[in-house]
Amino acid sequence: MLSVAIILSPSSARTSAQSIARLTAPYETGDPGQRLYVRQGCYQCHGLAGQGSILSGPPLSASRLDDTSFRRYVRNPKGAMPPYTSWALPDDDLGQIERFVRLLQAGRPYTAVPALAKVAASGARPNTANTVADGEALYRRNCAVCHGAAREGGIAPNLIKEGKNRDASAIAALILDPPEGMPSLTPDPLSKAETDAVARFVATPS
Ligand code: HEC
Ligand code: HEC
Repeated sequence: MLSVAIILSPSSARTSAQSIARLTAPYETGDPGQRLYVRQGCYQCHGLAGQGSILSGPPLSASRLDDTSFRRYVRNPKGAMPPYTSWALPDDDLGQIERFVRLLQAGRPYTAVPALAKVAASGARPNTANTVADGEALYRRNCAVCHGAAREGGIAPNLIKEGKNRDASAIAALILDPPEGMPSLTPDPLSKAETDAVARFVATPS
């Protein structure tokens, strides 16, 4: 249900170029496919991270279609999705979108998210990962870009409720086996101890 909230929440429903730019920033890849994915409205039904929503469209990050079937589907969808003709979406543009969607696919390394790769390259990890404060620092480095500086959500769901609904071990399990649209963050950049620390922070009411 939270992914539904992402798509329908007033903040992401705002379509000003500025708010879209803010939401897509973590995925700013320099790939024109990303811009086309937004401009053609794919994100409105399939989510900015391709995570989908039960109300509007399946997770593209989980699609098992190969390249040819993917393109054929967009031209000739079988269900509720509107067809995209080559007039509205030229072949080249569709190819670019498809490449971008491949970047979003589940289990991709965190380095596929440029904002995270940059943070990881900057070094300066906490020395220990025992306290909730360590967890907060790790959260800022590894999670805030998608879940918001104050866990309020952004491209990914609000995690404030999460802390009330799940305990730290359930959150750690989720980081180890990330849902569609969330990159793999373990064992790199997060060790087991760091994963537990960030999970304890997320489980701590704000
Ligand atoms: C108005 C909502 C909507 C928009 C906009 C939309 N889709 Fe879809 N899409 C769907 C729905 C719903 C499905 C599930 C099957 C169906 O009903 O057609 C789907 C299915 C798909 C599938 C098949 C996934 C699979 O694994 O079977 C692909 C690929 C796809 N969409 C790509 C795109 C791309 C690329 C764009 C933008 C160019 C886009 N969609 C825009 C709603 C949408
Ligand atoms: C690149 C973006 C990205 C980053 C970075 C990221 N996540 Fe996520 N995360 C997502 C997306 C997208 C979803 C939603 C998947 C869905 O809708 O099913 C998600 C879902 C979650 C959920 C489940 C929320 C729910 O609604 O069930 C938790 C908990 C979570 N993330 C925690 C974290 C933590 C902790 C970190 C940092 C260690 C992190 N995430 C880093 C994108 C990200």
